[in-house]
Parts: sequence; structure tokens; C-alpha cells
Amino acid sequence: MPRERSAAFAPGRVNLIGEHTDYNEGLALPFAIAEGITVRTERLPRSGGEERIEASAVDLGESDEFPLGHPEGAHGWRAFVRGTAAELGRARFPLVGARLQFGGDVPQGAGLSSSAALEVALCLALLELGSEPGERAPLERIDRTEIAQLCARVERDWVGARTGLLDQLASLYGTDERALCIDFRSLRVDPVPLQLGDWRLVVLDSGERHSLASSGYNERREQCARACELLGVSSLRDADEDAARGLPEPLGRRVAHVLGENRRVLQAVEALQADDLEAVGELLDASHASLRDDYEISTPAVEAAVSRLRAAGASGARLVGGGFGGSVLGLFAPGREPPSGAREVRPGPGARMLAE
Ligand code: GLA
Repeated sequence: MPRERSAAFAPGRVNLIGEHTDYNEGLALPFAIAEGITVRTERLPRSGGEERIEASAVDLGESDEFPLGHPEGAHGWRAFVRGTAAELGRARFPLVGARLQFGGDVPQGAGLSSSAALEVALCLALLELGSEPGERAPLERIDRTEIAQLCARVERDWVGARTGLLDQLASLYGTDERALCIDFRSLRVDPVPLQLGDWRLVVLDSGERHSLASSGYNERREQCARACELLGVSSLRDADEDAARGLPEPLGRRVAHVLGENRRVLQAVEALQADDLEAVGELLDASHASLRDDYEISTPAVEAAVSRLRAAGASGARLVGGGFGGSVLGLFAPGREPPSGAREVRPGPGARMLAE
């Protein structure tokens, strides 16, 4: 008997530090959060010889339907569902027709990676439904990094955002009480204890929605690629800081951000190992200044949110994710009260199958 149902959950993420480094073969230090997306599927009988997907976005009250074998492009959440089914098919994973529904509590466009959570949960649920009974669960037989790469192809080819692997790797490798030090050159993921004690990490929504496909995200990537050409290196990981100073503006500042941010990730790992959360706070502030001034991806709404966190006594605050809106992250020492509307976040486990 083939499988009749499957269910999977994938979390969003917060990036502690290391922003816009992933597509430059740099370093980042994200963690998976408790909020995420759940996808539930049930086998849909073949109709007229063709396998189909019927999908519904529970929170939005919207639906979609497409032939599994040849989905066409679409916009919004439909692009994620169609793209994930198509990329799984292209990678020759066995798939079957499904009625699927998804919903969750990670807000869309808030910089907490609702997109990656959706892609990863879709992948796992569709892989499980298409597998033979008795076969091991998808995460036990398929390399997580391979799943992350497939999801990134969905973003690039179906959604139109040329993202790196930060969000998907964080969602897939998340671990309780650990941040993940990711080296995007080797794709090595090293868990680093993130024990906060009475300290708190919070996110505050700037109220400004962002869309990676339409923001300056792709433009920043192109600028980094152009800087590489001019410097004669294959990625900014190898860029020489002095040579970068001679680049035309704004390329020099873009490179300065990436190189400085890679350094700050290593410093943050050291600070966490030394249990020095004050130092982590200072690094968050330095990262934000660099993202605002050198990478130029902040907005007035983001600045207002950062100011609210600082006014409440944050030890450090910065924008998280792609920028141009979304959420800001703040670190609060014991006894300091985050402002109203701020939500506490803690490192939690990564994507997983659920009981059906
Ligand atoms: C978005 C992208 C990631 C990464 C960050 C910036 O979240 O999806 O790949 O580039 O922006 O660090």
C-alpha cells in the first residue's frame, strides 16, 4: 500500500550575525526559531491519467491547482509550491499527486524566512508522500545541504530572488540552544552554544514588508559579482581589503561590509564561547552600522525599530535578513525590558516530520 498522508514542519530563522555574506562564500551565525510552517498532504487519486497537486494556503484562504508533471510559473506563494514540486521532479525524486495545505506562525515578509520554511516543509512532506512505505524518512536518507540547494533553486528560478543558502540551512540544521556557524565556501555547519541565561533576544517588526525578488537584494548581488570581476577574485571571501578601497563607489563599501561582517561572525563565535554577551551586543551594533552605511539596505522604518530597541536599553540591535524592511533583532541584558510588540526568540530544533 502506498502512503496516504504526510506532514512536515520547518522553522523560520533569525540570523544572529553575518548578513549578505552567504552568496559571497562568507560566514554567518543563524539559528532556527520556534515559529515555522506546517505542510500536510494527502494522496490525491490520479484523474484522467494525470497526477495533480491541489494546494491551499490556510491562513490566506487561497488555493491553487496544477499538473504535477508540468507546472507553469505563478506569483506569490503559488510560485513556491509549484517551484518546489517542479524542482523535486527535476531532481528525479518520486512524487505523487497530492492535496496539500499549509499554514504557520512565521509572518510573511518580516525577514524571518517564511519562504525557506515553506520550501523546506513542502520538500519534506512531498518527499515523504512519494516514498515507499518502510523507506527511511527524507531527513535520514537525503543530505540536508542537498535539500537546501534544491530550495534555493526554487527561489532563484521560480520566485526570482537569487538568495544564498542561509535561510534553508538554518531551517534544516537548527538545533536547540545552538546557533549555527556556517561557512558558505565549504558549506560546513558547526553548532555553537547560544546559552542566553537571563539575557533575551527579541525581534521587532519594522512594519515594512519586504520582498527579496523586488527589493535591492538582486542588485546587491550583482554589485558583489562586479566587485569580484574588478578585483580578479572568484568570490569576495578572497577580496583584499586594500585593493577594495580602490574600487569605484559604491562597490568599495559593499566589499568593506562583506569582509567586516565575516570578521564579526568569528568575533561573535569567540564572544559566545567566552560567555561575553555584552561583546555580542557591540558586534550587533557594528553589523547594523555597516548594513546601513556601507551596504545601504536599511530604511527609515527599520531605523525607527532599531531606535526603539536601543531606547529600551538593548545591548545591541540590528536589521536581520535581506533588509529593505522586515524585522530587527535586539539583545537585552537581564532586567532590561524590550519595547511592546517585541517577540522573544530562542534557538530551537530544525525541520522535522510530524505525526500525520
Ligand atoms: C535573505 C536571503 C539569504 C541571505 C540574507 C542576507 O534572507 O534569503 O540568502 O542572503 O537575505 O544575509
